Amino acid sequence: MSDKILLDNRDGVRVLTLNRPQKKNAIDTEMWVAIRAAFRDAAADDGVRCLLLCGAGEHFCSGVDLASFGDAAPGEQHPFESAARAVVEFDKPLVAAARGVAVGGGATVLFHADMVYIGESFRLRLPFASLGLVPEWGSSYMLQANIGAQRAAELFYTAEWVNADKAMDCGIAADVLPDADLFEHALSRAREIARWPVNALREIKRSLRLHHLAAIDLAIRHEQEAMLRQAGSPENIEAITAFMEKRPPDFSKLR
Ligand code: COA
Repeated sequence: MSDKILLDNRDGVRVLTLNRPQKKNAIDTEMWVAIRAAFRDAAADDGVRCLLLCGAGEHFCSGVDLASFGDAAPGEQHPFESAARAVVEFDKPLVAAARGVAVGGGATVLFHADMVYIGESFRLRLPFASLGLVPEWGSSYMLQANIGAQRAAELFYTAEWVNADKAMDCGIAADVLPDADLFEHALSRAREIARWPVNALREIKRSLRLHHLAAIDLAIRHEQEAMLRQAGSPENIEAITAFMEKRPPDFSKLR
């Protein structure tokens, strides 16, 4: 298991911490593989009744590591896609605690959490349009399901930042807390859940997800096809080059 993913057991709660704070917990290929394994292990282990997802340091997650974006061979599924499957298929309660930045994949994973608690420093961004890319992880469906079509469209098209107040207003999060209290609060909520029998929790999760699963599956398939067209396109290359060179992208000459 990668040391960039920490796992801890607390009274039936498995705590999964993204642990790459120097990169704001950007998730590289090794981490996606470890996340996929961690979700599958937590699903299979009856001692785990709830999973709590959080980030080390001051930030939740800055999304896919843009430096490793091209790691998958052409036509091959990127490991973040199979990690998405493991999260979507996870059949126990998933609680998330997020403060600081939640960008790209670091935001879309939250749309699959059953309960999201955020710190006051929370800010979320869906940067796909600005990267010449498309939404992933079924987020083109899940965000609409969670907050409504117009608000979701606004966030995808503008790629604007959403602060903690707006995240609460939209219904992206269940509660906002001072950053210093966030983890303990989320853990105590997860522990409350983990008092109950695992089979009942599984059945409830399956019932809650029942009407979403087919739609998520369709969304993921469509997104993957669109991602294959967009990843490596001139606008995507310009966006990633600009990020690495720490300058704004210039799309003005592209058609
Ligand atoms: N992939 C790779 N490296 C990343 C990263 C990512 N997604 N997000 C942050 N980093 C790195 C930065 O390159 C920087 O590395 P350096 O110290 O070696 O230069 C370090 O993490 C700190 O990030 P920095 O950009 O200096 O912090 P900031 O507070 O100015 O900005 C963000 C934070 C998250 C707004 C900004 O880093 C960002 O926009 N990251 C890209 C997010 C993104 O587009 N994710 C992909 C979604 S599909």
